[in-house]
Amino acid sequence: MNKETIAACLSGKTTWAGSQIIYFDKTDSTNTRAWQAQNEQSTGNGALFVADCQLQGRGRRGRSWDSPVGKNIYFSLVLRSRLKAYQAPMTTLVMALSVARAIAAHTGLRAEIKWPNDIVVQGKKVCGILTEMKPAGENVDFIVIGVGINVGKQLFAPELADKATDLSSCCEQSGAKTEICREELLAEILEAFEKDYAQLESVGDLSQLRPGYEELLVNQNRPVQVLEPAGAYVGIARGITDTGELLVDTEGGSCKRVYAGEVSVRGVYGYV
Ligand code: BTN
Repeated sequence: MNKETIAACLSGKTTWAGSQIIYFDKTDSTNTRAWQAQNEQSTGNGALFVADCQLQGRGRRGRSWDSPVGKNIYFSLVLRSRLKAYQAPMTTLVMALSVARAIAAHTGLRAEIKWPNDIVVQGKKVCGILTEMKPAGENVDFIVIGVGINVGKQLFAPELADKATDLSSCCEQSGAKTEICREELLAEILEAFEKDYAQLESVGDLSQLRPGYEELLVNQNRPVQVLEPAGAYVGIARGITDTGELLVDTEGGSCKRVYAGEVSVRGVYGYV
């Protein structure tokens, strides 16, 4: 991977996403780099931070994100957005949709979304998204959307082996295209994101993207276990609201709106 190839792949595909490319052979975390650069006002809307290796890759809920060298995609996109702070979490669902669509177009694999923002292929996670926002009162100062995609073949730690996989192994398994160009896939994701994000910006919610998102929602009409700080319950996932909450019909007969954040949703019988 290098900056020139990324720029060449992006050329003609995007107008603002990747307008500046900050590339690292190795860094702590692209989200951390992007956040710091925004605080110092040294980059603007659409700045793209990409690394070939992260030493302190970060996941959701304080977890780490394994980021070995030379195999995968690790990037963070900066949005200086007109969205209000309450709308910022929706950008995560938009990115999930764009990543799923781009993976499917690039590899021929069926990529699905585990609400709110894990990308799942053949029942296992191939991509995670970590969105961080700096609010300015009711508005947004900036948003950093960080995406990690397992592309190259790798061995996962025993505790992850039944829930994580990589695109190369999935391609091998399904007989799909096996040569995945990381720079091209990255460019296709950003191209899809520009289109999808424009819909969020124009209407202010996910109403236009919701049918496409639900079509790829792996939880749709399946039993889920919702783990909230206050306790856990089981229900059937029925889709999302226009603002991105998961709708769950509970065993007690009520329909709950599940907000992302500290909640974890998983299948009743396994990861999905
Ligand atoms: C998750 O927990 O599923 C989210 C993982 C997000 C990982 C990506 S890799 C690029 C960016 N930099 C980080 O430190 N994290 C995100």
